[in-house]
Amino acid sequence: MDTASEDSFQEFVLTLPTGKDWDGAPLLLHNDTWCPAYCIRGVVSFQQNFRAQDTDIIITSLPKSGTTWLKALTFSVVNRHRCSPGESPLITTPPHELVPFFESDLYLKSQNPDLDFPPPRILSCHTHYTALPQSIRDSNCKIVYTCRNPLDQAVSYFHFIRSRASGSTKPVSSIDECFESMCRGVQSHGPFWNSMLGYWRASLERPDKVLFLKYEDMKEDIIVSLKRLAEFVGFPFTEKEEKEGVIGEISRLCSFENLKDLEVNRNGFHSSGFSNSAFFRKGEVGDWGNHLSPSMAETFWKIVEEKLDGSGLTF
Ligand code: A3P
Repeated sequence: MDTASEDSFQEFVLTLPTGKDWDGAPLLLHNDTWCPAYCIRGVVSFQQNFRAQDTDIIITSLPKSGTTWLKALTFSVVNRHRCSPGESPLITTPPHELVPFFESDLYLKSQNPDLDFPPPRILSCHTHYTALPQSIRDSNCKIVYTCRNPLDQAVSYFHFIRSRASGSTKPVSSIDECFESMCRGVQSHGPFWNSMLGYWRASLERPDKVLFLKYEDMKEDIIVSLKRLAEFVGFPFTEKEEKEGVIGEISRLCSFENLKDLEVNRNGFHSSGFSNSAFFRKGEVGDWGNHLSPSMAETFWKIVEEKLDGSGLTF
């Protein structure tokens, strides 16, 4: 970026409303989304510069909704003819390195990142549907969104952000302190309702383009979800593969228990500063019941119902 463009970018950033994440880290409101300030350059550059190819597969989500899992599953489905689950790159490389984020991994570092790898490219973002680069919406590329019960998502985010060891931000002390932000949707890539509703509506209008998966459904029946995913991204399982148990092998490779225990996911750090292990906590449905008091849960549910009212999206 030349000096003039850098100056105008900095001026633009100064016009954005500011907020604070649950550990005090700065957020900027851009396109109705609370973006972490550290990656605002990546967010904007991705929107302006990315050119989708028809063969691309884009994994999207609100953070803490099962992104890591969906990346591992999609990577395994698409690459299963190149390497068997026993030889998968997932054994030696974290899912977030195999499927990088546009905003924080690619466009934060360069306005023109190297995306010259063999199709289909599997890439990911937390950007809301309405703010995606036009070429993603216009091309024939596929979008897969993972959605999670907002109460579990919030509890997962609370634990995740607590794990960030950083001298520059205030440690999160209690869930009560975060509750007010939670209810206002102020969190990284929130509000949750904008993220979910954008992809939900797009999946209803363009089911060939957007696949809307729910974390809870994947937990309930991963085989059915894997078949839907494989079919949607254009790599359906054959009858022979089904009989040979390939779907079960992929589900076991990508299971919480397996990924969490791999050396590569127990050590090291993601580019966002979080440890790789922070992406694997409990992997359960309904953990909110262990952390939110009944009155907090009731208040939060009311907000969820009000925000999703009339959309047909339920939990
Ligand atoms: P919990 O904090 O509730 O355990 P994301 O990948 O979007 O950051 O979401 C992280 C959440 O997904 C965490 O939830 C994490 O434990 C869970 N998770 C990670 N890998 C998973 C897997 N393979 N299967 C199921 N859940 C997984």
